[in-house]
Amino acid sequence: MYPGSSMPAYDLEPNARKALLAFLTTATPDDAQLIVSCRTRALTPEDVAIEAGKRDFARFGCVGCHGTELQGGVANPNAQGGEVPSLLHVSDDYTKDEVIALVRNGRAPPLENTAGPTPPLYMPAWKYVLSEEDISRIADYLWSKQQKKKDSW
Ligand code: HEC
Repeated sequence: MYPGSSMPAYDLEPNARKALLAFLTTATPDDAQLIVSCRTRALTPEDVAIEAGKRDFARFGCVGCHGTELQGGVANPNAQGGEVPSLLHVSDDYTKDEVIALVRNGRAPPLENTAGPTPPLYMPAWKYVLSEEDISRIADYLWSKQQKKKDSW
């Protein structure tokens, strides 16, 4: 990392020295890359917001309906599509502000069959539970996870 620098002497405890040796015998170039990237790359305010959004997404139970990987798929009979939607493609359909409004106000899913029963799951309104800052950080987290459409025209 620092060409021309000399190896400093470290006064390590024997156990720490053994642990370090054990690590070095198994470490891969990827491990080295990871260590270097943690050391030299400070977290940006955006990284911090995304991490906080991810925590809120789990803590407030979004994962219960939308999944830990935002994959959706929980059965929701008579909702259009028949299941809770994945959140991996919301940026194809909404702006960030629209998603923030949707999370704030909630939404009942449109029915597959209008004569059929009300779907058991709906999107709750979060404005009574989450601050605007929480919701905005969740939106940042969702945006960090968006997958591009496979087919683009
Ligand atoms: C009780 C289940 C449930 C929970 C908990 C829940 N959602 Fe939802 N969510 C839904 C359902 C059902 C829909 C589909 C609504 C519709 O089709 O109009 C939805 C829709 C959405 C959408 C729009 C997706 C789209 O493609 O239209 C977003 C964004 C979203 N939820 C985010 C969240 C966030 C963020 C949280 C946590 C703060 C959360 N949801 C918690 C059930 C839930």
